[in-house]
Amino acid sequence: MKKVLVTGGTGYIGSHTAVELLQNGYEVEIVDNLFNSKITVVDQIEKITGKRPVFHQVDLLDATQLDQIVANGHFDSVIHFAGLKAVGESVEKPLDYYRNNITGTVNLLESMKKNGVNEFIFSSSATVYGVQDSPEYIETMTTGANISSPYGRTKCFIEEIVKDYSVANPEFKAVLLRYFNPIGAHPSGLIGEDPNGIPNNLMPIIMRVMDGRIAKLQIYGDDYPTEDGTCRRDYIHVVDLAKGHMAALEHMQAGTQIFNLGSGKPSSVKEMIAAFEKASGEALPCEVGPRRAGDLPEFWANPSKAERELGWRTVLTIDDAMRDTINYLNKVKEN
Ligand code: NAD
Ligand code: UD1
Repeated sequence: MKKVLVTGGTGYIGSHTAVELLQNGYEVEIVDNLFNSKITVVDQIEKITGKRPVFHQVDLLDATQLDQIVANGHFDSVIHFAGLKAVGESVEKPLDYYRNNITGTVNLLESMKKNGVNEFIFSSSATVYGVQDSPEYIETMTTGANISSPYGRTKCFIEEIVKDYSVANPEFKAVLLRYFNPIGAHPSGLIGEDPNGIPNNLMPIIMRVMDGRIAKLQIYGDDYPTEDGTCRRDYIHVVDLAKGHMAALEHMQAGTQIFNLGSGKPSSVKEMIAAFEKASGEALPCEVGPRRAGDLPEFWANPSKAERELGWRTVLTIDDAMRDTINYLNKVKEN
């Protein structure tokens, strides 16, 4: 069975993917500097799967330590989640984002090169599409124009770096996964999204309204040209997303493949609030505020390539995601 190095594996999406990998018989090692996650996630992964992944608290910017891990690990594949992801912060600290995300990735690829590891999956984002003529994003669209943040540009630049490297190394097999909006938690309630600092994304903010740390949700504008006036996004349950990585791992081939991971079905902010209220049985305090700069009215994935070539599609709904998020929050409160 394959052995996989998961960078950022104690983070939100990485931990769910580590669980899927372990449950499907893969051997897993994690490298994470714990900047945005907690060491206790390793215990939770073990509770869910009955297997404890080897954990290395190492920063990808420390090329020497990273080399040692890759040299000793004899990995077949690397799934690369580690990165900074706060869009607003990236505008204020662009150099931190370029150094961490891009230098970290180059260090990782160099280490893989030295040690003959040739399978690589990267966490990219729908943000690379920038602004398009159509809100349904498909992999054949040109990327890189009108990207709204340095964070988004790191994703775009890394995609190009990976493509260039796979041209130079014909044995290299790369998959760039463009995630849409990941939400939800593991149904066990043992892992979920637990960001440090002040969250910016919709679900973490809803979670903080639920636990009382934020008084009410601000709906960023209800005058968009959508049916109910609020923005629409393609929300994807994190367990479906994790399974998308498994599917990609099973279909690696020489060169760079690119896939959207989304449901193809957008939901509005008001629909998300209604789904949360249905799952919790409680009203969510909210008010309509001004638009947020840089928000697009709507976009969603065309997920047909992943379905056709990977045999993967989403099966969980926003209702499932709300139920699992609430279960996770209740478990966190109990402990
Ligand atoms: P996360 O912050 O929960 O996980 C990222 C992990 O990487 C964290 O545990 C952090 O400590 C670690 N990390 C960061 N820099 C590191 C470094 N230099 N060395 C070692 N570890 C480092 O984020 P997530 O939501 O799980 O996202 C995972 C990946 O998916 C990121 O690359 C992110 O940009 C991408 N992505 C996320 C979303 C989303 O909405 N969550 C959407 C699209 C793409
Ligand atoms: C944001 C980022 C995007 C990034 C993505 C996932 C911006 C402009 N875009 O996208 O680059 O890839 O997160 O990390 O930051 N909303 C509210 N009130 C809130 C928070 C959000 O109404 O308090 C609305 C937003 O207007 C949006 C929707 O909820 O319509 C989802 O927001 P969010 O979770 O931030 O995701 P994106 O806007 O898709």
